[in-house]
Amino acid sequence: MTIISSWSGLVVIISCALIMSYAAAAGTSPVPFDVAYSPLFGGDNLVRSPDGRTVHLKLDRYTGSGFVSKSAYHHGFFSASIKLPDDYTAGVVVAFYLSNGDVFPGKHDELDLELLGNRRGHAWHLQTNMYGNGSTARGREERYLLPFDPTAAPHSYAIAWTPAAVIFYVDGTPIRELVRCPSAMPGAGDYPAKPMSVYATIWDGSAWATDGGRYKVDYAYAPFTAEFSDLVVTGTGTAAADDRPCGLECAAAAVDLMTSEVAVMTPAKRGAMRRFRSRYLTYTACHDRVRYNGSSRVVFPECDDSDRDDFHAWGESKRLIKASPQRSTYAAGGVHID
Ligand SMILES: *[C@@H]1O[C@H](CO)[C@@H](O)[C@H](O)[C@H]1NC(C)=O
Ligand SMILES: *[C@@H]1O[C@H](CO)[C@@H](O)[C@H](O)[C@H]1NC(C)=O
Repeated sequence: MTIISSWSGLVVIISCALIMSYAAAAGTSPVPFDVAYSPLFGGDNLVRSPDGRTVHLKLDRYTGSGFVSKSAYHHGFFSASIKLPDDYTAGVVVAFYLSNGDVFPGKHDELDLELLGNRRGHAWHLQTNMYGNGSTARGREERYLLPFDPTAAPHSYAIAWTPAAVIFYVDGTPIRELVRCPSAMPGAGDYPAKPMSVYATIWDGSAWATDGGRYKVDYAYAPFTAEFSDLVVTGTGTAAADDRPCGLECAAAAVDLMTSEVAVMTPAKRGAMRRFRSRYLTYTACHDRVRYNGSSRVVFPECDDSDRDDFHAWGESKRLIKASPQRSTYAAGGVHID
């Protein structure tokens, strides 16, 4: 835990002088679209509400659509409320993520929240993933069901990224924590450490999104529309993502972030995370022995073998919740899995 101790050393050095001036960086109030974001692609398929606080992203047979943050960020807290398209959405991917892939080809960083559509009556899945410094051959995907119908109302999805850990949230419940852990373990150094931009997109993921590509986008049901609102963007922005290390100003903001509510894991939050994961985690790369085995086997630092027996050899959970595929089954906490 050298990183954590050196960062707490920083607290001592800079706390008196600088923390106050960056306290605002940990605010979590939503901002209007134009304050933080610009359209990225899709032309008229991106539609802003008159008050600028809600954005609709559409996918039709011609194009998807997306937006990107105006700044790149050295760490931060990024949140959006998202309402997903209903009915038949197999192959549709709605993504909210951080990346610097345009700036650092071959050694890019990425943190993903990806919502994967499904056939009529079958549940959307959420997928999280992290790449650090180009570790794309060692994907650490996890997939989950959601404890609500994500097409009926907006729900918040968030990423807290500090120098010490990444925490993914759904409706304020932490669902995954990736602690930065420098060690000799393979893959331990794969942690995002360069500035990243924030993206939101809707696109055609027919090749892989639903049952490994078995069910494709059917444009008879287009346009597919995802609604984004409550956009929270907190972090030290830099105009251009470059490779300079986090300087003093950035370090002060990072310390502020690390001590803020979104980055501190209390026992209650850990308990909530455990409950969510025991119920809704459907796949984890940690237990995918088909993908990571023998000489190429990667034990990620966050992996814990104690629950390995609950997972099949290809990483899928054995604790499947079986229920009829009606929408109302969401309310009962059971959703159809396949
Ligand atoms: C990131 O990857 C590049 C290219 O592979 C390498 O030269 C560099 O040392 C890596 N940086 C870190 C911090 O591991
Ligand atoms: C993993 O490797 C071990 C040893 O080579 C082998 O016995 C086992 O069957 C492999 N497991 C899978 C799921 O491929």
